[in-house]
Amino acid sequence: MTQAFTLTVNGQAARVTTHPDTSLLSVLRNELSLPGSRFGCGLGQCGACIVRVDGTVVPSCTTPMWSADGTSVVTVEGLADGDRLHPVQQALLDEQAAQCGFCISGIAVRAAALLESSPHPDEITVAQALEGNLCRCGVQRRIVRAVVKAGRTS
Ligand code: FES
Ligand code: FES
Repeated sequence: MTQAFTLTVNGQAARVTTHPDTSLLSVLRNELSLPGSRFGCGLGQCGACIVRVDGTVVPSCTTPMWSADGTSVVTVEGLADGDRLHPVQQALLDEQAAQCGFCISGIAVRAAALLESSPHPDEITVAQALEGNLCRCGVQRRIVRAVVKAGRTS
C-alpha cells in the first residue's frame, strides 16, 4: 500500500507517494530526478548513496521512506551554493581526484559534513572519516589530498 510523504530536499519541499519501505535513494533518483546519489551495494556498506538526513550522514539505500518523512535531506546536488561549488567539490575537481567518479557523490557529502565538525582536518582524520566510502578505482589518496586541501582553502 502506498502512502504520501513530505520532506525537504536540498531546500525544496517534495511530496512523494510510494510504499513506506521504498528506499530514500530510490525516491531521490527515480521520483525526484536527483541521480547524483549512486546505487552501489544497496546494503549500506559502500557509501555511494550517502546523503544527509536532518544533518546526519546516512546511506540512503537503507533509509526507508517511513523514516524519512518530514525530514530535511541534502544530496550532492545540494552542496553547491548556486553556481559556486562547495569547497570539497572544487578541490576534488582541482585535484582531479575522481577516476570513474562513481564513489565521488557520497564522498563529497561525507567530506562536506566532516569539514563542518573538523574544518581543517589532516590526512589521517580525512582517511578515517572516509573509511565507509569505498573507491574501487583505488584513488583514495587523491581524494584524501583533495579534502585536506578543501579544509585549507575554505
Ligand atoms: S549503495 Fe548505499 S551504501 Fe552502498
Ligand atoms: S573514482 Fe571510481 S569508484 Fe572511486
